[in-house]
Amino acid sequence: MKDVIIWGGAGQARVLREALPSSDFQVIAVFDNRPIPSPFPDVPIYLGQEGFHSWQASRTGAGQVHACVAVGGSRGSDRLFLLEWLQQQGMQPLTVIHPRAFVASDAKIGKGAQILAMSAICSNATLGCAVIVNTSASIDHDCVIGDGVHVGPGANLAGEVRVDEYAFIGAGAVVLPRLKIGRSAIVGAGAVVIRDVAADEVVVGNPATGR
Ligand SMILES: CC(C)(COP(=O)(O)OP(=O)(O)OC[C@H]1O[C@@H](n2cnc3c(N)ncnc32)[C@H](O)[C@@H]1OP(=O)(O)O)[C@@H](O)C(=O)NCCC(=O)NCCS
Repeated sequence: MKDVIIWGGAGQARVLREALPSSDFQVIAVFDNRPIPSPFPDVPIYLGQEGFHSWQASRTGAGQVHACVAVGGSRGSDRLFLLEWLQQQGMQPLTVIHPRAFVASDAKIGKGAQILAMSAICSNATLGCAVIVNTSASIDHDCVIGDGVHVGPGANLAGEVRVDEYAFIGAGAVVLPRLKIGRSAIVGAGAVVIRDVAADEVVVGNPATGR
């Protein structure tokens, strides 16, 4: 049984716990920067880095603790920062792959990535660290997805798409083959992207245009 902590106590924490088979993983603590109740009645929550250090100091078990970061939306750089901070504190970044996700045998998945239920990662796709592929999203063959990217629920990236660091693809969006989505760009929910999207650009609609 692997001990797991989750940083972030909102809905994404519940999604992540659901993705971890209870026969193999037990969530032992949750942390959040806001004073909110624990998302789980059976798991304590601690406030911020100070709470983390007091939890760590009072911990009795000696085994390796795995960590995942439940920070979604367009906050990919926060997610990566927290993952690396937890690693510096001795935690082992956990790559979460829901038992009902499809991951091609030659796909490469970075540390701390979260591949959620019914999603598909196709042949030769490459995903960086702390990437979220949300429920029912698909990443087709030969896509290259940078660190901290979030592909929202039901979004579809066609083959050979490149998405740079921290970009956020909203729910149900579609990106046509071989396009490039720049660093920290946002693709709105339901958008159909038919041209490259520049770094930091926000696009919405069908066909997707800037705002
Ligand atoms: C694109 C997006 C980031 C813009 O957010 P925002 O800056 O807060 O935008 P607002 O809600 O203020 O809307 C601004 C305008 O854009 C329009 N708009 C917002 N999102 C849109 C979308 N996805 N498609 C088309 N138009 C959209 C609004 O109707 C509004 O138009 P108006 O100025 O004519 O009234 C956001 O609406 C979005 O689509 N986020 C994705 C959410 C998601 O998929 N989450 C998954 C979480 S797991």
